[in-house]
Amino acid sequence: MADVLFVNGRFTTTDERVIGVEDRGFQFGDAVYEVFKFARRTPIFLADHYKRLERGLKAIEIRSPWDEQRFTAVIRELLDRTEFDEGIVYVQVTRGEIERLHYYPDDMEPTAIAYSRRFKFPDAAKKERGIRLITTPDRRWKSCDVKSVNLLANALAKKKAYRAGADEALLVADGIAREGASSSFFVVRNGRIITHPLDEQILPGVVRDRAIGLAIAAKIRVDERPIREDELFGPEEAFVTSTTLGVMPVAEIDGRIIGNSRRGEITARLQLAMDEAEAREIGA
Ligand code: PDD
Repeated sequence: MADVLFVNGRFTTTDERVIGVEDRGFQFGDAVYEVFKFARRTPIFLADHYKRLERGLKAIEIRSPWDEQRFTAVIRELLDRTEFDEGIVYVQVTRGEIERLHYYPDDMEPTAIAYSRRFKFPDAAKKERGIRLITTPDRRWKSCDVKSVNLLANALAKKKAYRAGADEALLVADGIAREGASSSFFVVRNGRIITHPLDEQILPGVVRDRAIGLAIAAKIRVDERPIREDELFGPEEAFVTSTTLGVMPVAEIDGRIIGNSRRGEITARLQLAMDEAEAREIGA
């Protein structure tokens, strides 16, 4: 089924082929993207996603196609035109289209697209059961804080996880567990939440940031510091966060059961707090 698509200032559907073969997003992965959730046709944490998108554009020197007001108006119109209430929006901005050369001029016209899609978010049973992780070497480039569309290493890691009967790959380098192939990663030890600090090795996850804020508000201690591989043995709890998974318990890492094989108490509290935060966003 065709979805509503915004492309460079106009609306069409995903049936229309809108990107040129020499678009640098296609040929060089020269682009950044965002994924956000909407419910009741209302975007969730939109300002956070806009901020990260702009930060990424600046980092790789792509001209922004919009200011925040225009971006918000585009998303509002996209969701007004969308025929379902709940799903995700994918946004991508590329450096634009030009004769293929590694070199690019300064004044390129960016390509901006956004489309809404239905999405099956995890149900209550899944949110209780959790997911299985495998560890795998982090083979990504060195600017993982930029949400670029260069996701080959992430995609290969995810495929490896699925082949192993798991749901997500936990990317490890230099003895440190950094983050999932498409999620932020947390463990709970001695009642404290631990997650990798913000640097070039991980994506500054929107849900990560919200989860940390909710934990602190609930007087749960949060340490933003590297998680050593040996700390993957025997944590009380582990969980991942992302736009599509929300706060998701980790049931197993490399076949080892986490905690007492039930969703941990801190994870459950954060899930509840996140549900409430999302409900406030959509005025529910
Ligand atoms: N991925 N880390 C990586 C490498 C990610 O790709 C993502 C999200 C996250 C979580 O970020 P957030 O909380 O802002 O969703 C962390 C999205 C969902 C994707 O690529 O589909």
